[in-house]
Amino acid sequence: MAYTIDLKGKIALVTGGASGIGYAIAEGFQEAGAEVIVTAQSDESLEKCVEKTKFGTLRKLKLDVTNDISIEKIFDEINELHILVNNAGRIKRGLEYRIEHFADVINTNLMGVMRMSHEALPKLALTHGNIINIASMFSFFGSPMSPGYTASKTGLVGLTKSLANGWSEHHVRVNAIAPGYIETKLTKVLREEDEQREKITERTALKKWGVPEDIAGAAVYLASDRASYTTGTTITVDGGYSIT
Ligand SMILES: NC(=O)c1ccc[n+]([C@@H]2O[C@H](COP(=O)([O-])OP(=O)(O)OC[C@H]3O[C@@H](n4cnc5c(N)ncnc54)[C@H](OP(=O)(O)O)[C@@H]3O)[C@@H](O)[C@H]2O)c1
Repeated sequence: MAYTIDLKGKIALVTGGASGIGYAIAEGFQEAGAEVIVTAQSDESLEKCVEKTKFGTLRKLKLDVTNDISIEKIFDEINELHILVNNAGRIKRGLEYRIEHFADVINTNLMGVMRMSHEALPKLALTHGNIINIASMFSFFGSPMSPGYTASKTGLVGLTKSLANGWSEHHVRVNAIAPGYIETKLTKVLREEDEQREKITERTALKKWGVPEDIAGAAVYLASDRASYTTGTTITVDGGYSIT
């Protein structure tokens, strides 16, 4: 019999899952049998999000991870939860030396994860569920253009360890994935600059940018019972960017 990963009967919430990496993770979860709820912050992204995938129908909800009322509302609409993917994130390249932009990025990428995880805990404790946080290469390197993003993603690796340790008593696992450079709307500006795009391709050991589906495999694994002894860790999926 083939080696399988089975998420049948599981319900997953993927923040920022209406596009990019989150959408690919949502499809991966569906392929493994889970029911998936995806969110976006804007009406535009929600409308653009194609809810019928190859593997089923996604439930779409609006969510702002910086807003407590929006978070409470979404958890009111979800009865049962087995998997939370904290994927929503933003970068304000070139602006983050200004404190208001620095704070905005930290508020979304780091505090947003804490808010969501805290609200999800009672439901996850009931199902012995798990959390996956989407970190970054800038969890390990310092971006000169994005100090807020770097601080938020470095903090996320520490937060992942802390929550994994703290919530093991509730049988809730907490892990992270650090993607390399992936072709999504978040990196569109970077890909449009020829020099930047080539520099990244050249440095990456596999000599190419990643696609969102490259991240989904790690997420499906971490979400599943195959990873039942894995908690507090960050898996790097970067085509070898960080080893060169
Ligand atoms: N692409 C890469 O190379 C790369 C590398 C490492 C890590 N990451 C991380 O991967 C995650 C997904 O990014 P992506 O590349 O797939 O880009 P993306 O398609 O732009 O996805 C980002 C998502 O986050 C949502 N979002 C932003 N602010 C939010 C808020 N305050 N509340 C709720 N949702 C919010 C966006 O909603 P709207 O569309 O409505 O604004 C969007 O759905 C991010 O955490 C990013 O930092 C990306």
